[in-house]
Amino acid sequence: MKTTKNTILITGGGTGMGLEAAKQFSQAGNKVIMIARNEKRLKEEAAKLPNAIAIVCDLSDEQSVRSLVSTLKSEYPDLNMIFLNAGIATNYSLLDGSNAYEISKQEMLTNYNSAVLLTHELAPLLAVHPESAMIITTSAVAFVPDLMHPTYSATKAALHSYILGLRLVLERNSSSIKLFELMAPLVDTPFSKAVKADYKMPASTIIDALMAGLKKDEYELHAGLTKKVFEKSQKSTQDALKFLNTVTG
Ligand SMILES: NC(=O)c1ccc[n+]([C@@H]2O[C@H](COP(=O)([O-])OP(=O)(O)OC[C@H]3O[C@@H](n4cnc5c(N)ncnc54)[C@H](OP(=O)(O)O)[C@@H]3O)[C@@H](O)[C@H]2O)c1
Repeated sequence: MKTTKNTILITGGGTGMGLEAAKQFSQAGNKVIMIARNEKRLKEEAAKLPNAIAIVCDLSDEQSVRSLVSTLKSEYPDLNMIFLNAGIATNYSLLDGSNAYEISKQEMLTNYNSAVLLTHELAPLLAVHPESAMIITTSAVAFVPDLMHPTYSATKAALHSYILGLRLVLERNSSSIKLFELMAPLVDTPFSKAVKADYKMPASTIIDALMAGLKKDEYELHAGLTKKVFEKSQKSTQDALKFLNTVTG
């Protein structure tokens, strides 16, 4: 996949990995459309980058996502890449008295349902371009759950399953759309602030790896801890489950 002269939508573009991706894509000569809820922060960050614009959208709200789709279709027909990267996670334990239903509903709407809606609605727009791509951020917890983020883990497992199915359909339809999965390890962003760990990968390192992986058409990108968990899960789910939950405490 080429990494220059694209028009790319980046969700979660105001902070963390999304912001780093916005910087790198902008510097590499792409037009960048940054999405998040916090308007002030998003607009301030977009204003610092050449060829970047900010659009506020709440991905957990269907009408807000449909309104974004409509804006993209009417104003950005050159859109040929989407990086569905926004995500939320709640730290709690199952059966600890937390309202797991409400927590998981918000996590699912934000992390999973919005990706289903956006990929379905935007696929026709992307497919008219000779080269186009979807990138979706998952995690090591897509393979086995982290007990500190139980329902969040399930959203990433659902996303991983959805990606495998969608990629096969795109291949069978000979679509121009390439589908990449960025399986992130623990990365130093606001998202992981509460997690105590010896090492968190800098956001610039994971986005460097994404850019390199896109150029080589590496559809499954896993780095650091995610690579270890992924390899273990291929041999024994139980070993991978114990390993991940020992590392994360
Ligand atoms: N950091 C890690 O250790 C780690 C590890 C594995 C996977 N990941 C995944 O990496 C992705 C990026 O996270 P990050 O680490 O870069 O954390 P982050 O800095 O917290 O980024 C998350 C972004 O999502 C946006 N967002 C959250 N809810 C939203 C909503 N309803 N509508 C629109 N935007 C929303 C936030 O902006 P607003 O609050 O302004 O909306 C924020 O910019 C997530 O999918 C996360 O699950 C992270």
